[in-house]
Amino acid sequence: VWEGAAAAETAARASLRPEVFDWIACGSGDELTVAANTSAWHDLRLRPHVLRDVTNVDISCSLLGTVLPMPIAIAPTSRHDLCDPEGEIATARGAAAAGALFAVATGSERTLQEISTAAAGAPRWFQVYMARDRGWTRERVQEAVEVGCSAVVLTADVPVVSRRRSTGAGFVDAGRVRIELDPSVGLDAIAWLGSISGLPVVVKGLLRADDAERCVAAGAAGLIVSNHGGRQLDGAVATARALPAVVAAVGQAAEVYVDGGVRRGTDVLKALALGAKSIFLGRPVLWGLAAGGAPGVEAVLRGFAEELELAMRLAGCTSLRELDSDLLAVV
Ligand SMILES: Cc1cc2nc3c(=O)[nH]c(=O)nc-3n(C[C@H](O)[C@H](O)[C@H](O)COP(=O)(O)O)c2cc1C
Repeated sequence: VWEGAAAAETAARASLRPEVFDWIACGSGDELTVAANTSAWHDLRLRPHVLRDVTNVDISCSLLGTVLPMPIAIAPTSRHDLCDPEGEIATARGAAAAGALFAVATGSERTLQEISTAAAGAPRWFQVYMARDRGWTRERVQEAVEVGCSAVVLTADVPVVSRRRSTGAGFVDAGRVRIELDPSVGLDAIAWLGSISGLPVVVKGLLRADDAERCVAAGAAGLIVSNHGGRQLDGAVATARALPAVVAAVGQAAEVYVDGGVRRGTDVLKALALGAKSIFLGRPVLWGLAAGGAPGVEAVLRGFAEELELAMRLAGCTSLRELDSDLLAVV
C-alpha cells in the first residue's frame, strides 16, 4: 500500500547507512532552497471544479514525441549503487515496470549498456556533464545514442560543484567517474550536443525566462526548470516560483518540465497547472530504491501516478489538456 513519499523516505532512512541517507537528503549552504522547493508547492492552492464526470481519468502524456503513461519521470541522480547493490539496473527495471521515463545520469555506477538492457524498451534520456575533455563527453554521448537513449540532457547548473553540508564519504554527484567539469561551457554546447548525437537536447537547471529564451534560440527542444534539488546555489528561487515565467517565455517553442520538492500527486497537479509537461523526481526515487529495490522504484512511480489521478478526480479534471493556471488560486 502506497503511503506517500514521506513514508518512503522514512523506510529509506531505516535501510541506508546514515551518511548515505544524509548525502541524498542534503542541499548546499544552509539548505534554504531545499526547504523552499517543497514549501513553494505547499503554498499554491487549488480551485477544484465540481459536478463533472470524472469516471475516467487519463494521465498519459507525450514528451518530445514519446507517449508515456504518466507525466512523472525519473530525474538524473548518480550512484544508485549506494541505495541498492544492483544500482541503476534496479532503477531501470522499476522504471520499465511502471513505463516511466528514466533520465540516466553520467555519474551512474553501472554502464549505459547494462542499464539499457535492464530497461528493456522503456524510454531513456541521458544526462551529460560537459567535461574539459570534450572527447570524453563525446564518447559518453555516442554511447547513449548507441544504446537507444532518445534525448540528451545537459545539466547547466553545475559550472562548479557547490559546497554541501554532507559530502558523504566523498561521494560527488558526478559519481565514481571523476569528471573535470568545464566552467567555461556556454550556449554553444547545446548545438554541439545536438550535432554529435542527432538527438533533441534538453537543458536542465535553469530558473530564468531570459535564460530559457536563449537556450531555445540555441536549439534546446526541452527545458527542465530546476535548482538541482537545492544542491547548487543556496538561496536560489524555488522551482514552483520560477516555472510560470519560463513557461510564458517559451510558449510552444520548447517543452518545459520541472523538478525539485515534488512529493505528492497534488504537487504534480500544481506543476502541470503551471504549464509543465511533466515533473521529474530526484530523491523519492532513491528512497524507493533504497527501501525496496526495483519494486520499490515502481511503487514510488505508481504511487505518484495514483495520487495524481485522485487529485485530478477531486479537482474535476479528466485529462492533462484541461490543466492550466485557472486551477490555481491567487494567494
Ligand atoms: C543524490 C543526488 C544526486 C544527484 N545527481 C545528479 C546528477 O548526477 N546530475 C544531475 O543533473 N542532477 C543530479 N541531481 C539533481 C536531480 O536531478 C534533481 O534535479 C533533484 O534531485 C530534484 O529535486 P528532488 O530531489 O527534490 O526531487 C542529484 C540529486 C540528488 C539528490
